[in-house]
This record gives sequence, structure tokens and C-alpha cells, in this order.
Amino acid sequence: MKEDQTINDIWSILLEAANSRSHAYHVLSLAYQSQQVECCSVVLQGIESATVRFHAHHGSPKIAAIIKNPRVSLLGYDRLEKEQIRIKGTVVMHHGDEEAKRIWHTMKDSSKLCYQYPAPGIDRDGEPLSQERLRENLKADPLVGLDAFVVCYVQIDMIDLLRLQYKGHQRFQYINQGGWLVKEVQA
Ligand SMILES: Cc1cc2nc3c(=O)[nH]c(=O)nc-3n(C[C@H](O)[C@H](O)[C@H](O)COP(=O)(O)O)c2cc1C
Repeated sequence: MKEDQTINDIWSILLEAANSRSHAYHVLSLAYQSQQVECCSVVLQGIESATVRFHAHHGSPKIAAIIKNPRVSLLGYDRLEKEQIRIKGTVVMHHGDEEAKRIWHTMKDSSKLCYQYPAPGIDRDGEPLSQERLRENLKADPLVGLDAFVVCYVQIDMIDLLRLQYKGHQRFQYINQGGWLVKEVQA
């Protein structure tokens, strides 16, 4: 990260992270408010018009919590770059609509299989379906699992970037005001 990092540079980095499994920001920590503050890992699926996209199972407790309070934060740390990214925003969900279907059709079969399972976190009732069976089901019905699939777009309000370095840490904030206000703040 350079001193004159623009918001477009940030989008490039996040886009690369979405497209590369080995990128430090490919898996981000998602913080949200439930009975208590919760945190979990999510895969960064895409960056589209100032949003971060992740996917989830509609029955998961995190989705119930985010419906109640859609204000979330995302956190990543790139160890090699010695760089932390914090993103704050509001989740807009798509479930059972055209947008969910559109994204579904862009996904690999292997990514669709987990949506045939019951909701995460519930007590297990017997043996789970085998991967082979899940694949057969999907072959027979390409939309099987779609009813449990939620697309979450985090509409970004603010990005806070911290770069650790010997000569003095650097910290920049990118604030969404329709356009993007960039300011350097104390690290
Ligand atoms: C590397 C990694 C990536 C994950 N990606 C996702 C994801 O994209 N979406 C998701 O819902 N859960 C993902 N999970 C699982 C969640 O972190 C969490 O454990 C799970 O969704 C259960 O959450 P809940 O029952 O509290 O809602 C991921 C876990 C790991 C370890």
C-alpha cells in the first residue's frame, strides 16, 4: 500500500482477493450483533459497486441476527504486506429472488452442495447426505439448495486501512459520501 493509495487501488486489491483463494483477504472476519457480538469467517465472493459480497445459508443464526441488525464490520490482515483492512457497512440480502438465482447460476457445483444440508448449528439428526448424493441431487435438479441460499451485499460506508512499517505506521480512511473522501489519520 502506498501513500497515495486511491479508492480504485483498494477495489483492485479486493477484486484480486475475491478471485484468488490464496489472497490474504479472500477470507474475511465478519462481525455482527446477535445476543452478544459475534464474529465468523466468510469468503469474499465479489466486489461490485462499493459492495462486498458473501454467501450464507438462510437458516444460519448469523442471518437471523443480521436481519435484525444489518450493520456489520469485516476485517482482514495481510501478513506479508503488514496491512489491516476494516470495512464497515450495511447488509442487503437477496433470498429467493432473481438476484439470488442469478448468482446461483454463476457458482460452481461444489459451492452449491452445502445448501442442501439443514441449517448450520442445529442438532444433527442422523447421518448427513454423502457428497455423491448431493451431487446426484444437483444433477437431477440444478436449483436444489437455492431455497437455502442467501446473497449478502455489504454496502460499504467506510474502509479503514492500517499499514505497519518501521518508519511509522500509516492509516487511511475512505469514507463513502456518494463520492469517496480519503483522509490520513493517526495510526
Ligand atoms: C475459511 C472459512 C470460510 C467460511 N466462509 C463462510 C461463508 O462464506 N459463508 C458462511 O455463511 N459461512 C462461512 N464459514 C463458516 C462460518 O464462519 C460459520 O462458522 C458458520 O457459517 C456458522 O455460523 P452461524 O451458525 O453462527 O451462523 C466459513 C468458515 C471458514 C473456516
